[in-house]
Amino acid sequence: MSTTPLGTDRQTAARTHLWGHFTRQSAWEAGVPTIVRGEGHHIWDADGHRLIDGLSGLFVVQLGHGREELAAAAAAQARELAYFPVWSYAHPQAIDLAERLASYAPGDLNRVFFTTGGGEAVETAWKLAKNYWRLRGKPGKHKVVSRAIAYHGTTHGALAITGLPELRAPFEPLVPGAHKVPNTNAYRAPEHLRDDPKAFGRWAADRIAEAIEFEGPDTVAAVFLEPVQNAGGCFPPPPGYLERVREICDEHDVLLVSDEVICAFGRIGGMFACTDLGYVPDMITCAKGMTSGYSPIGACIVSDRVFEPFATGTTSFAHGYTFGGHPVSAAVAMANLDLFDAEGVVDHVRREAPVLRSTLERLLDLPIVGDVRGEGFFYGIELVKDRATRETFDDEESERLLRGFLTPGLYEAGLYCRADDRGDPVVQLAPPLTCGPAQFDEIEQILRDVLTRAWARL
Ligand SMILES: Cc1ncc(COP(=O)(O)O)c(C=O)c1O
Repeated sequence: MSTTPLGTDRQTAARTHLWGHFTRQSAWEAGVPTIVRGEGHHIWDADGHRLIDGLSGLFVVQLGHGREELAAAAAAQARELAYFPVWSYAHPQAIDLAERLASYAPGDLNRVFFTTGGGEAVETAWKLAKNYWRLRGKPGKHKVVSRAIAYHGTTHGALAITGLPELRAPFEPLVPGAHKVPNTNAYRAPEHLRDDPKAFGRWAADRIAEAIEFEGPDTVAAVFLEPVQNAGGCFPPPPGYLERVREICDEHDVLLVSDEVICAFGRIGGMFACTDLGYVPDMITCAKGMTSGYSPIGACIVSDRVFEPFATGTTSFAHGYTFGGHPVSAAVAMANLDLFDAEGVVDHVRREAPVLRSTLERLLDLPIVGDVRGEGFFYGIELVKDRATRETFDDEESERLLRGFLTPGLYEAGLYCRADDRGDPVVQLAPPLTCGPAQFDEIEQILRDVLTRAWARL
């Protein structure tokens, strides 16, 4: 039962009743940062403090905040048909959105299974891969290979695919059969490969082949990877890497899942990053930016080959979500994608991405900035103690620097983004796709000021 009169004191109510995701509740004792409004590229907290949104909420708000067209699309659909499932039935919004997503997807990825978010899409992809191989007469193919430090969601299956030991440890045992290989962090590549991106790409791809061979190709269902890995601070693929991974999957009869929960819908440039990066997966998982966050939805988009054993007779995929393909979310996604077209968002990202890169690279003159890396409107800035040796911070320094200083410091200085130490300490940036040089400069100047002060405190 509530101990305070309802609605009178939000700070107390938050501390008493709200459970933050991935949140140290103790940090809320000093105050619960409460965001109340968004407009364009900025957000405001309950005290009227204005911040630039350097992370699009959580890699979500592609077209910025306060878009009337998206609010109107949600309201209109709620009036017309607020809810109906896609269990046995269909509704126009799910049909239209499935057709549209298939039109963006490469190759023969023509079939769309809706979810309500990214982790469910990943979970769906693994279950589907297992079911597919079973129907193909290879029930032993159930394992997955994914990469160290990669984040793929929190449900048991998606968490098993996730390569972050500290996120997994409290929930072990997870789904068995999820194996990890090195990621494509070029900054931390084995020393002899650092100056040869092609050789590094070959080496990293070969680790996938090796894992499949060690496990036995007859036991491996799928490889999961992000086109550009987020956790750890934006690892773009080295040249040749993704092509080689595609070949390895084909050689061993293993499905390739492109987890584009962050990378799709213009974040890297095109609607799907696999197209930008030149490979055709067997499945794409996506969510976040599909509606710019105005309503939740996710999807697993599947090739004709993977769909084929489900296409006829009494077979069905025994899997689904009450809110998967929700009509309001699907209508908002259509309106969002209409705005992408009307405003030339993909072209804008492609044009402005080099400007964002060169703006952020200005920070390389700060001694604390070891590396600036990313693609499109998606960047990680790795912080180091010593640029020459690339020495990173120990746990205590990381705690003091990231949690103790940077997170509150950036907030107070007016930049919302994330300081993350799931791998080496990084600042993650992914501004709305409608941003341009003025917003890039604003972000760079705040970072410059706060990182300079952070260095002085070390
Ligand atoms: C690559 C990737 N996959 C899956 C997920 C999980 O998505 P959700 O939080 O919508 O379940 C995320 C979330 O950030 C992600 O970045």
